[in-house]
Amino acid sequence: MDATKRLRVGVVGLVMGVEHVQAYQNLPDRFEVVAVCDLNEQKAREVAGKFQIPNFHTNLSEMCQRPDLDIIDLCTPPALHYNQIMEVLAAGIHVICEKPLVGSLKEIDELQQAQQQFNRLIMPIFQYRFGNGVQKLKFLQSRGLTGQTYLSTVETSWRRKAEYYAVPWRGRWKTELGGTMVSHAIHTLDMLTYILGPVKEIFARTTTRVNPIEVDDCVSLSLCMADGSVASLSATTGSTVQISRHRFCFSNLTAESNLRPYTNSGDPWTFTGDTEELTARIEQALTEFVPLPESLTGQFYRCYEAFINGQPLPVTLDDARAALEMLTAIYYSSYTNQSVSLPIAQDHPFYGGWVSHFSPPQEAGATR
Ligand SMILES: NC(=O)c1ccc[n+]([C@@H]2O[C@H](COP(=O)([O-])OP(=O)(O)OC[C@H]3O[C@@H](n4cnc5c(N)ncnc54)[C@H](O)[C@@H]3O)[C@@H](O)[C@H]2O)c1
Repeated sequence: MDATKRLRVGVVGLVMGVEHVQAYQNLPDRFEVVAVCDLNEQKAREVAGKFQIPNFHTNLSEMCQRPDLDIIDLCTPPALHYNQIMEVLAAGIHVICEKPLVGSLKEIDELQQAQQQFNRLIMPIFQYRFGNGVQKLKFLQSRGLTGQTYLSTVETSWRRKAEYYAVPWRGRWKTELGGTMVSHAIHTLDMLTYILGPVKEIFARTTTRVNPIEVDDCVSLSLCMADGSVASLSATTGSTVQISRHRFCFSNLTAESNLRPYTNSGDPWTFTGDTEELTARIEQALTEFVPLPESLTGQFYRCYEAFINGQPLPVTLDDARAALEMLTAIYYSSYTNQSVSLPIAQDHPFYGGWVSHFSPPQEAGATR
């Protein structure tokens, strides 16, 4: 591709998709949203008008026939992602897709093959990792300033009431693919492995107490990381006071996030050295930290070169697979009340997904 060109994007699913449109339009030298798509024609028309996008569609197949698209960005309900990604790849167009990418390791492995077969890229969305707080921690790690990892604590304490679950696909295994763990805390799984690397073992307790839904809304995890450190992670939709929190205890420093529920990966984070000398070195190093755009804009900013020049994507299928593997272990642990070791092999009972094991009997078996 021509390194001076703007990438032409079509955005599908215009609720979360509107945030994607705004993020692309924050980067006008790199991206141009040439079309939007939603089943709801009025919504598609209104979003196109409001954001001065020249074309709108009401079905994905029609959009895939456009000759002018480099990327289609899918912001549709989770259970649609697998088939829609396959359709876009087969049309010879790169894919960006919201979380959860799909509902099983088997599907991720099939997407990996399809990516090669059609010679097109898939970039999953994990925008939380591009907050400047967590980026500063990554920077300190790269300078060798964190030391050995001891213990990490992660909380996703949000509030969701009946109106949130009025959207028909939410709250059901078959269509949401999971509960608060899949829909909300998946970002924290990504941030944890982004900083600490792979997980070795997980014990999970999941339950449903907050809303009358099928899927989990209270989760508590105990994790052993491959580096030998331990971590705990909790998630709920029943917290009147909404916070997100990351706290990493390393031998050289403690890193603590801010508590804003949806932007806790951004500034300010505190980095407290274990000695005054370490604190001074941390402060000195951070004077050299160069902030880049954050959140969705940050992810799109960083993926431009990858789509243009074939450089590594800022979030890869392997990253989505790591999160999916943790979710597989979490749901298997909850199902069996046993600790689960990773990696998950192809002959594991949940390699093909967990949904059919949790769905009510009349719906069991269908994940797409
Ligand atoms: N990254 C994040 O922080 C974040 C936040 C919220 C939602 N999401 C994800 O974004 C996705 C969408 O979530 P949402 O909350 O916007 O859902 P939503 O149900 O509120 O909106 C989905 C939109 O997609 C449209 N749609 C449904 N099927 C379609 C199809 N086949 N073709 C075209 N349009 C279709 C619907 O009409 C609707 O306008 C989900 O995967 C969700 O997990 C991510």
